[in-house]
Amino acid sequence: MEHIFLILFFLFLKCIGILAQAPAPAPGPPPPLNVTKILEKAGQSSTFIRLLQNTQQLNEITSQLNNSNNGITIFVPTDNAFLNMKAGSLNSFTDQQKAELIQFHILPSYYSLTQFQTASNPLRTQAGGTSNREFPINITTTGSSVNITTGIVNASVSNTIYTDNQLAIYQVDKVLLPLQFFVPPAPPPPPPTSLTPKKKAGASTSSTEQDASSATSSFQEMYKGVIYKGGILLFFFYAAFFSSL
Ligand SMILES: *[C@@H]1O[C@H](CO)[C@@H](O)[C@H](O)[C@H]1NC(C)=O
Ligand SMILES: *[C@@H]1O[C@H](CO)[C@@H](O)[C@H](O)[C@H]1NC(C)=O
Ligand SMILES: *[C@@H]1O[C@H](CO)[C@@H](O)[C@H](O)[C@H]1NC(C)=O
Ligand SMILES: *[C@@H]1O[C@H](CO)[C@@H](O)[C@H](O)[C@H]1NC(C)=O
Ligand SMILES: *[C@@H]1O[C@H](CO)[C@@H](O)[C@H](O)[C@H]1NC(C)=O
Repeated sequence: MEHIFLILFFLFLKCIGILAQAPAPAPGPPPPLNVTKILEKAGQSSTFIRLLQNTQQLNEITSQLNNSNNGITIFVPTDNAFLNMKAGSLNSFTDQQKAELIQFHILPSYYSLTQFQTASNPLRTQAGGTSNREFPINITTTGSSVNITTGIVNASVSNTIYTDNQLAIYQVDKVLLPLQFFVPPAPPPPPPTSLTPKKKAGASTSSTEQDASSATSSFQEMYKGVIYKGGILLFFFYAAFFSSL
C-alpha cells in the first residue's frame, strides 16, 4: 500500500515537472472566423453558402483571412436574389463560371461602408482584373446607401451582416453578374512593333539581296519590295493568333 502511494506520489511529481516545463500556450490570434456560421445566423443566405462550399471559395476566404492583413469584403445575395435570376441561368454556368461568380462577390480587401465613399472605381474582385471586359465592379454611394454596378446588374447593399476591421459581409439584393459572362473579352491589341515599318523599308528594295543575315530580313525577303504589306500581314497574323487564344 505504502509503495503504491509512493509510486503515485512520484508520478504526481513527475507530471507537475512536465507541466512546469511545458511552454505556456502563446496568446496567438483568435481562431479564424466561421463565415458559414455568420451567414447561417443572418439567414436568407443558404444558396450563397452552398455555392461558397461547392466552389471551394470558403477555404479560400478562410486562408486569406488568416494569411493576409488586407481583410476581405463579401457581398452576399439573398436566396430571393438567386430565385429572381433568369430561370436556369445558374445551372447554365460551368463549374469554372460558378467559381468566378462567387469570386466576383468577394473583394480582396476590407471595406467599411464609409470606405466605399472614397473607393476608386473600378474595384478589383477576387475573380481578377479590372479592365472593362474582365471582372470589375463599380460602387456608388449616396449618404449611407451603397449601389453596385457590374455593367449587367445594378444592385444595392441592403444590410450589413458582419463587420470588424478584417471581414465585412454585406447583403445585396441582386446576384452580381460579371460582364465577362455575357460579353467576351476583347483580344489584346497586337504588339505595336509589328505595325511600324522598318526605317530602311524604302531603301531595302534596292538592297534586299545583301540583307539576308537576320531572321527578320529573311522574312521580309519573302515579300520583296512589299515590306509594308508584310507588316500588315504580320499584324493580321498576330490578330488571328491572339483571337484564337
Ligand atoms: C462553421 O460553422 C458551421 C455551421 O455552424 C459548422 O458546420 C462548421 O463545422 C464550422 N466550421 C468550422 C471550421 O468550425
Ligand atoms: C494560419 O496561418 C499560419 C501561418 O501564417 C499557419 O501556421 C496556420 O496553419 C494557419 N491556420 C489556418 C487555419 O489556416
Ligand atoms: C441606388 O439604387 C437605388 C435603387 O435602384 C436608386 O434609387 C438610387 O438612386 C441609387 N443610388 C445611387 C447613388 O446610385
Ligand atoms: C466603372 O467606372 C469606370 C471609372 O469611372 C468607368 O470607366 C466604367 O465605365 C464603369 N463601369 C460600369 C459598368 O459602370
Ligand atoms: C443601371 O443603372 C444605370 C445608371 O443608373 C442605367 O443606365 C442602367 O440601365 C442600369 N442597368 C440595369 C441593368 O438596370
